Amino acid sequence: MKLLDSMSALRVFFLIFSALGGPTVVSGVLSGPTNVHFTSYNMNLVLKWSPPDGAPKDLVYTVQYKPVITDDYREGCVNISISECDLTNLSDILFEYGVYIGKVRAQLGSETSPWVESSNITMDKDTIIGPPSVSLLSSWTTIEVMFEDPVLEYSTLRQAYTDITYNITYWKDGQREKAKKKSNIQQNRIVLSDLDPLTKYCFQVHINKMWKPAEPSATVCESTGSEEQQIPWVAAAVTFVVIAIVAALVAVTVVYRRSIYHFLCPNDALPEHFKEYLLEPPNSTIYKAMQNPQPTEIIADVIVVEGGPLEATASTCSKQPDVIVEQR
Ligand SMILES: *[C@@H]1O[C@H](CO)[C@@H](O)[C@H](O)[C@H]1NC(C)=O
Ligand SMILES: *[C@@H]1O[C@H](CO)[C@@H](O)[C@H](O)[C@H]1NC(C)=O
Ligand SMILES: *[C@@H]1O[C@H](CO)[C@@H](O)[C@H](O)[C@H]1NC(C)=O
Ligand SMILES: *[C@@H]1O[C@H](CO)[C@@H](O)[C@H](O)[C@H]1NC(C)=O
Repeated sequence: MKLLDSMSALRVFFLIFSALGGPTVVSGVLSGPTNVHFTSYNMNLVLKWSPPDGAPKDLVYTVQYKPVITDDYREGCVNISISECDLTNLSDILFEYGVYIGKVRAQLGSETSPWVESSNITMDKDTIIGPPSVSLLSSWTTIEVMFEDPVLEYSTLRQAYTDITYNITYWKDGQREKAKKKSNIQQNRIVLSDLDPLTKYCFQVHINKMWKPAEPSATVCESTGSEEQQIPWVAAAVTFVVIAIVAALVAVTVVYRRSIYHFLCPNDALPEHFKEYLLEPPNSTIYKAMQNPQPTEIIADVIVVEGGPLEATASTCSKQPDVIVEQR
């Protein structure tokens, strides 16, 4: 590496020497940065380089870049002291299928090094796609795995890469060698059923795309039928029992309403106005009920089903039956 650097420095020396045709500039030659290259993660664009050998501390750099198909370089970072330049936000020419080239030179006071060019970068092909984020939702023997596309600086994952699919690998905790796989999932979720209850499963999700493989997600684990999942079931069961008891009480009240009624108003027969009401519509179910051998039982039911008669019976005990008859 060192040898190479001094050789290129030497080459630069001779180039400038012959260009200017005199020995006077020799002492002023500043060698350029080395290892100039682009990196790209989730479609950002960063030019990086190594400082020239024995670079003084106050060395600064200037970066230019362009799409390879154009002639003119654009200004990137100017007089920066770190050895990388993030071009993502500086450019309105970036796009997901663009091909770019950059160059950098070092500067020390009035001395400048020659420009050193990077190699080309092709965004969709060369960018490293980060991992998807994965979330899990488990129940008794089912785990739903949901994954979110990584967010790109430019474009979206599905716009940049038209047939993105996901692969998911899953295994019982501690048994990775027996991992199972589901491939080419097109949606951003999958429901795995038929899992063993009360078992911890681990998952890793991979994005399937052309060019470079994307980074796999972190491994995430979740248990089926964990205790937290049981709590809603317990609550549901308790609620069901309470509702059943209340319903039973209501039913008992309805069936024995007449007995209750007689218990509360022991000396009252069925009030006159009430009988009139029941006889009034001859074709009603109430009328038919009256033909029944045990009419009073059914009347008890009807009282509850229809609002009006219930009101009437309720007020019977309050000794104001005539008022109600007049209202009808
Ligand atoms: C960068 O540094 C050079 C030399 O020190 C100076 O001439 C130039 O004005 C600086 N440019 C900016 C944008 O600071
Ligand atoms: C680019 O801009 C976005 C939003 O404007 C910001 O969140 C991000 O930090 C910027 N990146 C850099 C490297 O400046
Ligand atoms: C970059 O791409 C251009 C145009 O496709 C090509 O002419 C040039 O040789 C490439 N340069 C490098 C360093 O790969
Ligand atoms: C996804 O699964 C398919 C089929 O098993 C396989 O060919 C492909 O290489 C897998 N991709 C990744 C990123 O694991």
